[in-house]
Amino acid sequence: MIAWPRRSGRAAAGNFPTMAAAARPRLHIETACVVIVLLFASFARPNAALGQDEAKVNSGLEVWRSSGCADCHGPFADGNRADDDAPMGANLRATKLDAAALRQTISCGRPGADMPSFDEGAYVTHACAGRPLGDPPDNLYPAPTKISPDQIDAVVAYLQARIIGRGDITKRECLAYYEGDPSGLCEDYKQ
Ligand code: HEC
Repeated sequence: MIAWPRRSGRAAAGNFPTMAAAARPRLHIETACVVIVLLFASFARPNAALGQDEAKVNSGLEVWRSSGCADCHGPFADGNRADDDAPMGANLRATKLDAAALRQTISCGRPGADMPSFDEGAYVTHACAGRPLGDPPDNLYPAPTKISPDQIDAVVAYLQARIIGRGDITKRECLAYYEGDPSGLCEDYKQ
């Protein structure tokens, strides 16, 4: 039993709890409810943000699959190209580039080094590597396709979340990429 404090003025009217005192336990319950709701809200917010990040990473994977990146870099971006006729891409699992440098490289490409420019507006409407705006350099390897700045952001999010610094390719990664591996491509990878 909790001994609710009573105001001395009312004590003379008898030992029954006053209205204010009787309302007090309800107030405590309401306060507790508000605290619980606030706690849930503060947990829910980062989860929603995580959900958005996950959606961006997954759309980045779609960009990776559909833009020809794997032809030169290999499906798992280790530089083991998927297309023998394509130039040999860099090993992106071991890249030291940060998000801004990744974006810049994918957008502008590397003139003379077989990395195509994937952004239609690169060199033309936004400058690359300090060059004045104008025609793109003619020693750029032709891009298999062009993608939007949002798609470039998504593929950068994908590379940062699932590729860069990941070390050896695992069987799990391979199975996820090939969605269950119906053709047995993942057999050689260790778990
Ligand atoms: C035609 C072949 C080719 C295609 C297609 C291609 N790349 Fe590349 N990529 C290269 C080559 C070659 C290099 C290394 C360039 C160099 O030596 O500086 C490279 C370098 C990069 C780098 C810089 C790595 C570093 O550490 O310097 C990034 C990032 C990159 N590619 C991402 C992508 C993405 C993302 C795609 C698809 C949207 C893609 N590449 C498509 C050939 C390609």
